[in-house]
Order: sequence, then structure tokens, then C-alpha cells
Amino acid sequence: MSHRTARGVVAAGLAVSMALAGQGCTEEEPPAAPVHVEVAADTPTAVQPVADEPPVWERPRFAERRDGRLAMVSTQIEQRGIKDEAVLDAMRQVPRHLFVPEEGRAAAYADRPLPIGLGQTISQPYIVAYMTDLLQVKPGDRLLEVGTGSGYQAAVLSELTPHVYSIEIISKLADAARKRLKELGYETVQVKVGDGYYGWEEQGPFDGIIVTAAAGHVPPPLVQQLKPGGRMVIPVGGVLDTQHLTVVTKSEEGRVHTRSVLPVRFVPMTGRVQSGR
Ligand SMILES: C[S@@+](CC[C@H](N)C(=O)[O-])C[C@H]1O[C@@H](n2cnc3c(N)ncnc32)[C@H](O)[C@@H]1O
Repeated sequence: MSHRTARGVVAAGLAVSMALAGQGCTEEEPPAAPVHVEVAADTPTAVQPVADEPPVWERPRFAERRDGRLAMVSTQIEQRGIKDEAVLDAMRQVPRHLFVPEEGRAAAYADRPLPIGLGQTISQPYIVAYMTDLLQVKPGDRLLEVGTGSGYQAAVLSELTPHVYSIEIISKLADAARKRLKELGYETVQVKVGDGYYGWEEQGPFDGIIVTAAAGHVPPPLVQQLKPGGRMVIPVGGVLDTQHLTVVTKSEEGRVHTRSVLPVRFVPMTGRVQSGR
């Protein structure tokens, strides 16, 4: 994995600390011990945080089936009104066919969701793009995804920022997604097994939270883990109700506002949320 800033020596120091910050986030490994860099008070520091510079990080690139992705983006996504070039480019880059089982690969760029096993699905490309667009990601943002599934949405997010944390409740899916993301080169994404209802407090607060399973209500721990100025995109509604894709925003003063933007159909969020408030 390599995270880099555009500034030589400073970059090396930041790269080390950023990489370490990402370790120990999986269930299996305990957190790495914090690294202390001691600098004498009168020594000019070689390593300064570069607050205003956007991060630069490695993202894998795939030529295979690129034409299919270009067609998918222009006919399914741009034509439905998504304009953000960063989102469109993320959708052009991530090889969706490598996130679905063999038997679904031929249809990977079709305008529909696909099964990924264990009764779960990977969302329709337009919905992935739309939810990503609603998050308004800036490079450097910290993002939480609830519902890793295949890892596809997480890979799309990792095109926009190197700080992506994703939780999946089905351990078989989480393990497969973690392995797939690593093998494909999406090494900045951290995946853990758990009930996303509770968020990932150790890695928060987050600039953006995306929930990719339908919840009967917005989980309060997720609202708490949203930064002031942050936003959450979540399908709200039961399996038999009309679900509404909902945007939850938290103002700089901490006021929470919700608005519903699109009727949708998602697999249900399981775990704690199903026992009600
Ligand atoms: C529509 S699929 C997600 C698709 C995924 N984002 C992708 O790109 O492949 C919804 C996922 O949410 C997971 N899920 C359901 N309830 C959950 C919970 N409480 N915490 C974490 N994951 C959950 C399901 O197991 C399923 O994998």
C-alpha cells in the first residue's frame, strides 16, 4: 500500500503514519501500537502536516472490459443526470465484473443489480453512482460503508478518498471482499465483520456514511459518528414498505436534517436494527 502526498520528505513521514493508522482495523488484528516521533523543542521539524494538500494514493487500473464500463457510464449514469466527473471516473475505473460470481460476469455491466451469493446483491450501477454522488466526497474524507457485500461500492469510494472503512455482518462475505479488494489492489479499504448499526467508533467520526441495506430507522450510533458538516446516505423502510433513499445531514452546529430523495428497493439491514428503536 502506498499513500503519498506530493511533498518529498514530508511525504515519506506521512505515508508511514497513514499506513500505520490503517492497520489493526480488521477484526483479526489488534490495533498497532501508536508510533511516537519525538522532536526537540528547538529543532525545526522535517515533517509537518500538509493540511491543505489533497492526498495522493495508488489506485489500480484495469483495461479488461473497459468499453463495457464506458458504455455503462454514458448510457445508464450520465444520461440519468449524474455530472460529477470524479464519480463518473470512479465508475469507469472499477472492474465491476471482478466483484460478481463467475456466472454473473457476462451481465456485470447491465442496468440491474446482481446476486453475489448468500441471498445478497450488488446494487444496480446507477444506484451505486447516485449514492456516491449524494455523499459529495472530497479527497481526504473519512468514509464509512455499512454493508460491504462484494466490496464493489467500497472500491468505488476508494477512488475518491484513501480513507474507506466498511462493515459487513456476514463474515463469509466480509472475508471474501477483504481478500478480493486486496488482490485487486484496493489496499486502502479496511473491512471488518460486525453489525454496522453500531458504526465503527474507533475510526470515526466520518465525513460520510453510506448504508447499502434498508433500515427501518436511521441508527442513532451512525448519526453520532457523523462529523458536523457530514452526510449519510441510507435507504429507510421495511422489506414490505416502500423504501426511500434518505440523505441525513449534520450541520456545523450539530443539527440533524433528513430528506428523502428516491424510492428504492434494497435487501434488509439485519442485526440490531430489526429489533426496533
Ligand atoms: C445490497 S448488499 C451491499 C452491496 C455492496 N455494497 C456491494 O457493493 O457489493 C447489502 C449488504 O449489507 C449487509 N448487511 C445487512 N445488514 C447489515 C448490518 N447490520 N451490518 C453490516 N452489514 C449488513 C448484507 O449482508 C449485504 O452484504
